[in-house]
Amino acid sequence: MNISWNAQDYTQNFSFVHEYGSDLISMIQGEHRSVLDLGCGNGALTHRLAQAGHRAEGLDASPELLELAKTTWPGLVFHLGNAVDFQAAAPFDVVFSNAVLHWIDETQQDGMLRCVNRALKPGGQFVFELGGYGNNALIHRALSAAFVRRGLAYRIPFYFPTVGQYSARLERAGFLVTYALLFDRPTPLRGPDGLYDWLRMFIQRPFQGMDPAEEESILRETVQELESALYREGVWYSDYVRLRCKAVKPTALA
Ligand code: BEZ
Repeated sequence: MNISWNAQDYTQNFSFVHEYGSDLISMIQGEHRSVLDLGCGNGALTHRLAQAGHRAEGLDASPELLELAKTTWPGLVFHLGNAVDFQAAAPFDVVFSNAVLHWIDETQQDGMLRCVNRALKPGGQFVFELGGYGNNALIHRALSAAFVRRGLAYRIPFYFPTVGQYSARLERAGFLVTYALLFDRPTPLRGPDGLYDWLRMFIQRPFQGMDPAEEESILRETVQELESALYREGVWYSDYVRLRCKAVKPTALA
């Protein structure tokens, strides 16, 4: 996940990420739970978890976002750490994660899930949402076409699993899957250059080492190509597909 985040820009222009995450919080069963917000970013959802009455702590691998989280929410505890190899000082009732797990390479998913399992108490809940199969298919197809026109290969730099693929991983990591849903969520983007800004913020890896003029030309071409599909009545949309799940760490007797 070697992405450089512009923490202020992310917070100002992409706040929909945590706004949509708020109703995920209602999937947590029980009150006053100890909750780890895995990949907490700027801490906005860690704060909402605390507002909902939980004892929430955040963990993120980005020092920039974590710094912002600590200054914005000084009463909350945040840890610098990576979702694939963190170790909790004490196990939690709940691990919660919104719009983070698709950033983790497929080869590291099983290790990450075992790590989450270890961080939970028996009976603990793992409540999460990530980009699911088909997420941003139009966007990635248009990017790929622009790369191919230049003789370049394009690989989607995310992991967007199906319900079956992810449920199998969860079971292998020791979880019981109690809920899994794949659904479309077309999401309005902010501003007249909403899609261009989204691409610049989130699609960085395929452009690493590329001449900036070529990158700019690919981005402009992609935006133009997607106008008929993703620009409606003055608003740009991202063709999001979400995979929302709940999985439980069984108690010894289960
Ligand atoms: C997502 O939330 O689905 C997502 C966000 C940024 C890049 C890719 C996917």
